[in-house]
Amino acid sequence: MIRPALSALPSYAQGSDDPQGLKLSSNEITQGPLPGVVEAAAHALAKANRYPDMAVTGLRTAIAQWHGIDSSLPITAENVAVGAGSSALIQQAVLACCRGGDGIDGSAPDEVIYPWRSFEAYPIFAQVAGATAVEVPLTPELRNDLPAIAAAITERTRLIIVCNPNNPTATTVTRNELEDFLDKVPQDVQVLLDEAYFEYVRNEKSPDGLSLLAAYPNLAVARTFSKAYGLAGLRVGYVIGRPELIDALNKVCIPFSNNAVAQAAAIASIDARRELLARTDETVVQRGRVLDRLPESLQGQAEANFVWLPLGDRAREFADAMAERHIVVRCFDGDGVRITITDEAETDSLLTALDVVGIDDFAQ
Ligand SMILES: Cc1ncc(COP(=O)(O)O)c(C=O)c1O
Repeated sequence: MIRPALSALPSYAQGSDDPQGLKLSSNEITQGPLPGVVEAAAHALAKANRYPDMAVTGLRTAIAQWHGIDSSLPITAENVAVGAGSSALIQQAVLACCRGGDGIDGSAPDEVIYPWRSFEAYPIFAQVAGATAVEVPLTPELRNDLPAIAAAITERTRLIIVCNPNNPTATTVTRNELEDFLDKVPQDVQVLLDEAYFEYVRNEKSPDGLSLLAAYPNLAVARTFSKAYGLAGLRVGYVIGRPELIDALNKVCIPFSNNAVAQAAAIASIDARRELLARTDETVVQRGRVLDRLPESLQGQAEANFVWLPLGDRAREFADAMAERHIVVRCFDGDGVRITITDEAETDSLLTALDVVGIDDFAQ
């Protein structure tokens, strides 16, 4: 029999596409993987008759060596979990931390708190695990409301997800705000800082989660190779945290779900990471061009590879008008529209479309 709770579960909606159009709906990059990555992946593919390294030793060690420099904590492979995208790891974190309860033994399920609106998959992860989702509204500036999240903690809270920068609003919290928050969270509540868009942050007040790991043992940081590193199609993400959490994440991982091609591509991406800054800097320049073009009431903080237009009831009308011009954006009906920022040529097309649809008329 299928769990009744699953019938209430929304399916994750992928950013839509238009084969003739420009897809700016899934926060992907335009370029392919970094130099050397395709070759490394092809080499691994040629040995696809063999199972991958289930413990993901090579990649976990490479990540540990790389981030050992940025972190306040000596990092070894024991501090690193790799998953099929950071999505998989966030779901694993809910499964690892929260006792679910579909009412079988009558006990109340544990709670996972996260900001809302935020990454659309968080509610799904909570429900799959049978945990109670506690959604804390963003601040009026559309940032994670850390004091309100701290105030929402109860004795049933096991996991808190903080999304920085927040998807889809592209806002950040400051390091001071995050530290104040972490000071209030009980030690037995796990905090997972989702930094999927970390590489695009240029605001110096925004924290680097890794630098807080030593001071806060209940903190872990999730990052991904999907966005800046251009490996969305291969599915590789990672979490850095204390070994007890990493062990637990690995226990609930589907065996062999980190495939050999993805592992090889991620290691080669780490080797080629010096190329990354030029790419992300380019996106930051294009982000500035788009922000400059927006009417003032639609301009907000944008620290990721996307911008958020808080269009409210006119979100659908705007998204449809863009789709008619073959620009696919991500519409959150009644709330706003998220547009991915990529390279110069695509931004030229985006700016032209914004003019044609009359973006100034959408300002409230
Ligand atoms: C905030 C946030 N976290 C995590 C993810 C998951 O990315 P992936 O599973 O591709 O690593 C995404 C993807 O869009 C995201 O926006």
